[in-house]
Amino acid sequence: MTQSAPRAASPTEAIRLQLRSWPEVEAYLEHCKGVIVPLGSTEQHGPTGAIGTDALTAEAVALEVGRRTGVLVTPAQAFGMAEHHLGFAGTVSLQPSTLLAVLHDIVLSLARHGFERIYVINGHGGNIATSKAAFAQAYATAADRGLAVAPQLRCKLANWFMAGPVLQEARSLYGDEEGHHATPSEIALTLHLEPSLQTKQRPLPEPAPAGPIHGPEDFRSRHPDGRMGSNPFLAQASHGERFLDLAATALAADLEAFLA
Ligand code: NI
Repeated sequence: MTQSAPRAASPTEAIRLQLRSWPEVEAYLEHCKGVIVPLGSTEQHGPTGAIGTDALTAEAVALEVGRRTGVLVTPAQAFGMAEHHLGFAGTVSLQPSTLLAVLHDIVLSLARHGFERIYVINGHGGNIATSKAAFAQAYATAADRGLAVAPQLRCKLANWFMAGPVLQEARSLYGDEEGHHATPSEIALTLHLEPSLQTKQRPLPEPAPAGPIHGPEDFRSRHPDGRMGSNPFLAQASHGERFLDLAATALAADLEAFLA
C-alpha cells in the first residue's frame, strides 16, 4: 500500500466511482485505499437559494478535491438530516437514525472492498453529529464482522464551509451578513456551478437573526423566509469560483494528511 505516494491530478471522469468498472476499482485499491463521499442535504435556502445548495456544493468540492488528488469520489448522498427545515416546501429529510444507518452502510460497503480511509465531504451543519455517530457505529460493526480492514479503518468528516480559508474569505467579503443559513458563501458557489440560479437573486429585507432552533414549526416562526442572519444577495458567481478553489485546496491537503 502506498497511500502516501504523491498522486497526480486526474480528469474528473477518472475519479468518479460511477464511471469506473469493478476491475478498475480493484486495480485502484492496489495503490490507494482512500475514497471521498460527498454528503449534502435537500432543504430550503431562503426565498432565493436552491433547495439543493448543500448537495450541489458538497459534490462540487468533492469532485475538485478528487480531481486534484486522484482519489475516487462516490455518488453524492444528497439527502441529509434536515428535520428542522421541514416547515419549508421542497425539503426532504432523513431522520437522524436513518442517516446514521445510511452512512454506516456506505462505510461498511466500502470497507468490505478494502477501502481504509473514508473521507466524507459535507455541505450541511445538521449532518455533523449524526455522521460522527455513524462512524463510531461503523467501526464497531467492522470489528464485529471481522472485516480485514477493521483495525485500519478510519472515517473523517470534512465540512467544506468550515475550512479556515473559506471562513476568512466569507468574513472579508460579507462580514456579519454571512449569517448562519442560506449564507452568501454557499449561494455564491451554487451561482458558479449553476449560472441559471442567478435569475433568482434579488435584494431581500433584513433577515431574522440567528438563534436556537428546535422543530420545523419553531424554525419557520423564527425564520419565516428560511434564512438565518444572512444576505445571500451579496453572493456572486466569481466569489463562488474562489470559494471552490479555497475549499478544494484546504481539503486536498487535509485528505493527503489523512491518507498518509
Ligand atoms: Ni446550506
